[in-house]
Amino acid sequence: CLLVLCWFYVYPVYRLPRDKDVTEEVLRQGDAWTKNQTGIDLFRKLLTECCDPGRMFAVTKENSPLGKVLWYDGEFYHSHTVNNETYSLFVQDNPLQLPLKKCAVVGNGGILRHSKCGQDIDQADFIMRCNLPPVSKQYTEDVGTRTHLVTANPSIIEKRFQNLLWSRKAFVDSMKAYGSSYIYMPAFSMKPGTDLSLRAHYALSDASSELTMLFANPEFLRTVGKFWKSRNVHAKRLSTGLFLVSLALGLCEEVTAYGFWPFSMGLDGQPISHHYYDNILPDKWFHAMPEEFMQLWQLHKSGTLRMRVGHCP
Ligand code: CDP
Repeated sequence: CLLVLCWFYVYPVYRLPRDKDVTEEVLRQGDAWTKNQTGIDLFRKLLTECCDPGRMFAVTKENSPLGKVLWYDGEFYHSHTVNNETYSLFVQDNPLQLPLKKCAVVGNGGILRHSKCGQDIDQADFIMRCNLPPVSKQYTEDVGTRTHLVTANPSIIEKRFQNLLWSRKAFVDSMKAYGSSYIYMPAFSMKPGTDLSLRAHYALSDASSELTMLFANPEFLRTVGKFWKSRNVHAKRLSTGLFLVSLALGLCEEVTAYGFWPFSMGLDGQPISHHYYDNILPDKWFHAMPEEFMQLWQLHKSGTLRMRVGHCP
């Protein structure tokens, strides 16, 4: 018996509620949401203290001068020393007009399908999307059309655009869907991602694209990771969506999140796909999306962040 007690002491058990319980809780709450300005201010203060998103979210000439060592956040003991080539690709300073007012963070969850949230999303002042998602006509009713910042993982460049070795035009053309937004790439998270991100930058600038490339600052990604680790998110790496929600909570006056529902059943108990556009599942050991969801849901209940799950009225 003593042994069991020791075990619990050393390895506390973090029990996640069952999907069914989460669904019931979300349904019980319904559409009710009351903004809590004190909660919003407090959370922004916490994020500013830990991670300084306004200054640090992107690699800039100001925070990463020539010779600065950028430590990769996704790999141990790898770094990039800022040189003439990379420095010339950094923006001068944080390009966003802060604070941003109403922000929408759009996750890629299948819950968005048939949600009719497109209009709602498009009404936000600043719209963030994850991983170059499709925003073509067949989806706009559910996910909207406007984008101000979209993340692009280098692995997408590798898989979808064959490392940009011979399909630069296809890449540049498909980026037109995001208008004149910022494309936010974690260029210094994993070593192989650096070349791919630089190549994406060159492809866009050679084609005089309207998009502006921003490289995610690995220091920011690391501090945000630590921030959530201390709040019981036990993932090897945070999901892109949680990074973006954290960024938005640090930069915006009000944040609404859409498409965050990492469960296999919808609110009506029917199976749903993982993404609104396909059903390719994530690597379970890498992300801890249900754990993340519970954190976001707590913020929703406290009036700090608004989560839209299911239909938009
Ligand atoms: O690259 P990653 O697996 O993080 O993301 P994704 O599948 O492209 O989806 C973008 C984000 O939406 C994720 O990072 C999650 O935060 C969120 N998501 C969710 O909450 N529920 C889902 N079923 C799918 C995505």
